[in-house]
Amino acid sequence: MNRVRIVSGMRPTGPLHLGHLHGVLNSWIKLQSEYQCFYFVADWHALTTDYDDPSRIRGHTKELLLDWLAVGLDPEKSVIFLQSEVKEHAELYLLFGMITPVSWLERNPTYKDMLQNISGKDLAMYGFLGYPVLQAADILIYKAQKVPVGLDQVPHLELTREIARRFNHLYGENLLPEPEAILSEVPKIPGIDGRKMSKSYGNAIFLKDPPEEIRKKILAYVTDVQRPKKSDPGDPEERCVAFNLIRLYYGEEEKEAVVEDCKRAILGCVECKRRLSEKVILSLEPLIERRMFFEREGKWLEILKEGTKKAQGEASKTLKEIRKAIFKIDLL
Ligand code: TRP
Ligand code: SF4
Repeated sequence: MNRVRIVSGMRPTGPLHLGHLHGVLNSWIKLQSEYQCFYFVADWHALTTDYDDPSRIRGHTKELLLDWLAVGLDPEKSVIFLQSEVKEHAELYLLFGMITPVSWLERNPTYKDMLQNISGKDLAMYGFLGYPVLQAADILIYKAQKVPVGLDQVPHLELTREIARRFNHLYGENLLPEPEAILSEVPKIPGIDGRKMSKSYGNAIFLKDPPEEIRKKILAYVTDVQRPKKSDPGDPEERCVAFNLIRLYYGEEEKEAVVEDCKRAILGCVECKRRLSEKVILSLEPLIERRMFFEREGKWLEILKEGTKKAQGEASKTLKEIRKAIFKIDLL
């Protein structure tokens, strides 16, 4: 298999929602047919922020896996694995630690941002500072050439490239590629209240929400506030939060019809959002089946074990080359 290799991971911090689906997941699914993909649960990365309350990480790992399999990540095509069971990541992280200047890490925008903005938790930890070094190890241990990520991860990927460059410069051989980001086009997915959809804002529609819950949430969406009554003409494209979902879930003609009828004040918001919720529910229906299928008899766990073995095989090959590049001689 000579296809270009891709690596990406997610931290197991909670159930995935429509924002994840239209942002990164759909892109992961598409990439599967073109690239050799390694997708992993970044449980060590979760520990950098949840070190004082790690009890939920294992449960979240299972949920993350079920979300992935439900949306269509395919273990026949991709290697799906658990970071902390491929110890090679840790060894490479240690080796990279020897060549990564502290100043690179201290100027990392995510680091500075989170230190300042997360209150009630002390994040001034060695592991948290080293977060991008671990991420570089995750990527380079598979010699990945591309990494699908969101915009917020671009500085981390830049650090990965710098570490690869420095490694190659110090130890020669051009062993490590400098991976490039694949930025997924993220359509705007606002949550119920109009802010960015996020678990922590409590405004998200989760992939595993039952239909009743989805109906309730969509009915609660903010609409054109200058349109308190159905008889007031609306301006969906400019003023309605729910319309951002309509853009995603409706075909061109249906969408135009909504705009028309809303502007002419003949379509009411309750009716409009009822129709929208049925569309969203329909689109999520196949996920219910697949989630049940993979949860039965622990299939998801089999998949995770199988994938972890494959990943480990690949990781240990690279690590052998890396040890050789650094130490030149094998002693034991
Ligand atoms: N830092 C990424 C995030 O928070 C998760 C991650 C860890 C990752 N290691 C990675 C992503 C390697 C891509 C490649 O989203
Ligand atoms: Fe938004 Fe539909 Fe209400 Fe128009 S009718 S404001 S598009 S919810």
